Order: sequence, then C-alpha cells, then structure tokens
Amino acid sequence: MAETTTATPTALPKGFRGAEQGWPHLDRIPHPPRRVPLLGDVLGADRRTPLQDTLRYARQLGPIFRRRAFGKEFVFVWGADLVADMADESRFAKHVGLGVANLRPVAGDGLFTAYNHEPNWQLAHDVLAPGFSREAMAGYHPMMLSVAERLTDSWDRELAAGRSVDVPGDMTKLTLETISRTGFGHDFGSFERDRPHPFVTAMVGTLSYAQRLNSVPSPLAPLLLRTATRRNEADIAYLNRTVDEMVRTRREASGSGAGDLLDRMLDTTHAETGERLSPENVRRQVITFLVAGHETTSGSLSFALHYLARHPEIAARARAEVDQVWGDTETPGYDQVAKLRYVRRVLDESLRLWPTAPAYAREATRDTELAGVHPMRRGAWALILTPMLHRDPEVWGADAEEFDPDRFDAKAVRSRAPHTFKPFGTGARACIGRQFALHEATLVLGLLLRRYELRPDPAYQLRVTERLTLMPEDLRLHLDRRTATAAPAPVTVPDEVRSEPRCPVHGTDD
Ligand code: HEM
Repeated sequence: MAETTTATPTALPKGFRGAEQGWPHLDRIPHPPRRVPLLGDVLGADRRTPLQDTLRYARQLGPIFRRRAFGKEFVFVWGADLVADMADESRFAKHVGLGVANLRPVAGDGLFTAYNHEPNWQLAHDVLAPGFSREAMAGYHPMMLSVAERLTDSWDRELAAGRSVDVPGDMTKLTLETISRTGFGHDFGSFERDRPHPFVTAMVGTLSYAQRLNSVPSPLAPLLLRTATRRNEADIAYLNRTVDEMVRTRREASGSGAGDLLDRMLDTTHAETGERLSPENVRRQVITFLVAGHETTSGSLSFALHYLARHPEIAARARAEVDQVWGDTETPGYDQVAKLRYVRRVLDESLRLWPTAPAYAREATRDTELAGVHPMRRGAWALILTPMLHRDPEVWGADAEEFDPDRFDAKAVRSRAPHTFKPFGTGARACIGRQFALHEATLVLGLLLRRYELRPDPAYQLRVTERLTLMPEDLRLHLDRRTATAAPAPVTVPDEVRSEPRCPVHGTDD
C-alpha cells in the first residue's frame, strides 16, 4: 500500500546564512571592484553610515548587487521588478537577519523580531491588530492632540526666548509620549526634561549597538566591542526595568487602560485558541511597541519639517490646505486629519526620499527564481534597499532626487506599478503601526503649519544619522508665529480623496 506523507520542509540551519549557500548563480550578481582579502568590500566604509555607503554601491552596481564584509556575503535588491517579485507572499517571507536579528536579545519574539515560525507572532498579531483599527485610532486621537499641544507649548516658549528648536529631539519627545500615553497610559514627562529621557538614551544605545554588530567579524565581537557590549547589557536591563514597572503599575490598577495596547497584551485572549501572551512575551511586546512606535515616526516628521522649511512654496500650499480644511476649529477632529491630503503627500514624499526604516529583508520560502533570472534556494535572502527603490528614475522619473509631493496625488499613484513605494515593508509582516504613524504625523504637521512659519538655517546641509533607523542630524529650525490665519468656510472633499477605512497592516500595495 502506498504510504501517504505530508511533506514538511526540513528546518533551515540556524545562524547567519551567507549568500554562497542560497544563491547558486552568485556570479550573475555584481560586487564592488577591489575586494580586500579576508575583509571584503570595506574600502571607504564608515561604520557610522553603513546604509549610505551601501547606497553609493547601489548607484554604481545596479538593481541587484552583493557585498562582502568579514567573510559574510549579502545580496541587496532595489530594482522595482525585483522588489515586486520578492513581495510575492507565496514564495517569499520576512527574513529575520542582520540588524533585526541583532535586536533579539532586547525584543526576543516580540512582533518585530519574531521568526515567522514562532507561534507568538501569530498570537500577538491577532491579539494586537484590533488595537490599530479605525475605532481604536479614533480613540487615540484626543491623546495625540494633547501631546501635540505639549509640543506647541514648548515651541512657543522657545520662540518667545528667541531660540531655534531642536527638531529631531522634540519630535522624539512627541512620538515617545504619544505611543507611551495612547498605548500604555504612561507619561515619560519628556517635555519637562532638558535632556532625553533615559529610556530614549538606552533605546538609541541598543539600536546603535545592533547596527555596530554588523560591522565587526562575529567571532571577534565580544573582544572588539567589550565596553559597548557591557553598556548594551546595561541599556537592556534599564529597558526591562522600565517596562516591568509599567506592567506592575497597570496590574495593580487593573482595567485602567480603557482597552489600550497594554490592556490587550495583558488581558485579551485569542478569539479562536483562547491563548494569551505570556508575561515574558508581554515584556518583549511593550519594548517593541515603545521603540518601533516612536523612533521611525520621529524621523519621518523631522525629514518632513526639513523639506517644508526648505520649500516655502510647498509649505504655503500645505498651510492653505490646513486653513481651508480645519477652518477655525480649535481642536481638529479625527476625520479632519485624513482630509489633509496635501499634507499627507508631503509626508509620503519625505518617506520616499528617506524611509526611516530604510531596509527590510526577504527570504525564499521554497526553491525559486527571482524575476526568472536568479535562482534561489529555500532560505536564501536579500535586503531590500527602499531608499534606492524610491529613487529609481525608471519609476520616479529623471527628477527622482527632487522633493515633490505631487508624486503622490491620486492620479500619479494610480499610474505607478504596485510595490514601488514600500516605507512600511510588505505582506503579513508589514508595519502594524502604519495608520497610527500616518495619523499622528499628519495631525502634528497640520498643527505646526497652522501655527508657525518655519525658517531653515541657511548654512545647514542635510546630514543623516544612522542607528538602524534614519534621522536628520543636528536639524534646528527658526520659528515665526503666524500673524493671520485665514479661516474660510469648510470645503467639500471630493470622493476620491475621502479617507477610507483601511486594514491597519496591509496597504493598497500588498
Ligand atoms: C513612519 C513610521 C514607521 C515606519 C517607517 C515603519 C516601518 C516599518 C517597517 C519597514 C516594518 C517591516 C520591517 C520588516 O519587514 O522587517 C515595520 C514593522 C513593524 N512596525 Fe513599523 N514603522 C513605523 C511606525 C510604527 C508605529 C507607530 C508602530 C507602533 C505603534 C510600529 C510598529 C511596528 C511593528 C510592531 C512591526 C512588526 C510587525 C510584524 O512583523 O508583525 N511601527 N515598520
């Protein structure tokens, strides 16, 4: 009698999988000239700017290329057809590698760093996704507004004192307070401090350390990074203590979160299995959400403010929209934010040029061929370089390096191929907080444009700091209080631009 067997794929080897193992035709993929024996493609590399170094190689080598560093070979992909192919969820999935894998000691099997096969990913995704529904978002809106008012109070004080404002510093205060108060009912008191909250310092420390681990040969890391490793352990311990304290406070005041993310993490059981998150997993999720929920949004707001200050005509158009849509409403309602279509385009265009989580990794879930050209074995993976995808002249035109929000008007968006704009990743593992970030950032840009004129420092040249995420370095802006606010009658918004309830995770592209 014939035996019936269900083919279960064999487990892939644990640890780093070099490109030699998974790409049988690596010879078809270019690499930089002048490889240094043992060290690899490290000439001219700066350990503080690995992403920007890689972008330079991308420009030289084209839509798919590889780099070798300390015996590890990686493949990078940014050509639109290749990225679109890798978005096919029937053949590819998220790969937890490099920087993301380096965050496992702090975020464990939390949503961002979980391996696809870990049961806690699906459990946490199902339990937490309703926390990003339209209803949930509308519930966070008043708190988002109140945090934004703390920011404008603080900027009013700086303006009165004749000082410029520290844009990334203040955006980080704003976004940390927003996620911590809306999600966890916790006030870090960021606006009452002159220096960043120690939570932010510890977080930046762990992100920078995770990035640094990629730039040293792994066996030597404990030796070469001895002091940094000790500091990283102290940072992780601090993050754990802060989060444990937040959880303890909530448990003591059970039910006080009115169904926020922390309530969901602690009390919600899975609708089908009845399971709930373990205490250890809750700790991982709280850290994940506090970090993922503010660092990237802060960078996006900072880049957007930089471009608005540099392009007064774009700022004027965005401001006119705010005046028209919000009129003299003191506190814009939830639905009035989604109607700021031009402001949202400014944000999208900033995320195009500087997607603040600038890469994500995809692996083949079975033996396949990438775009019909590059054979890949199951488990082979590549890093998608979104800043290059977003600057591909074939998709975005010869002026792809220019800041132009009209690239995101409805007609232009419809005319582009899918999967050409990917700041929030792709597929099942795309960003769960996408709508949260977009709502928060659009609201804040609207409030700031309505209240201030932004003046750049003429000598400032954009420099980008990397700590896995991207942030404009040392960006300060001068403010002027607007004198007259035009407040015309509310406008009717055409159907095509009305905000539609969307799945919090999957965008139109997915
Ligand atoms: C502009 C702001 C943001 C950007 C650019 C961004 C970008 C991303 C990207 C690219 C991924 C996919 C990573 C991968 O494939 O490895 C991701 C995942 C994730 N993001 Fe965001 N994000 C933002 C805001 C947020 C916010 C506000 C939250 C929470 C409130 C959040 C929570 C998460 C989580 C938990 C994941 C993992 C999802 C999963 O694997 O199931 N993000 N984000």
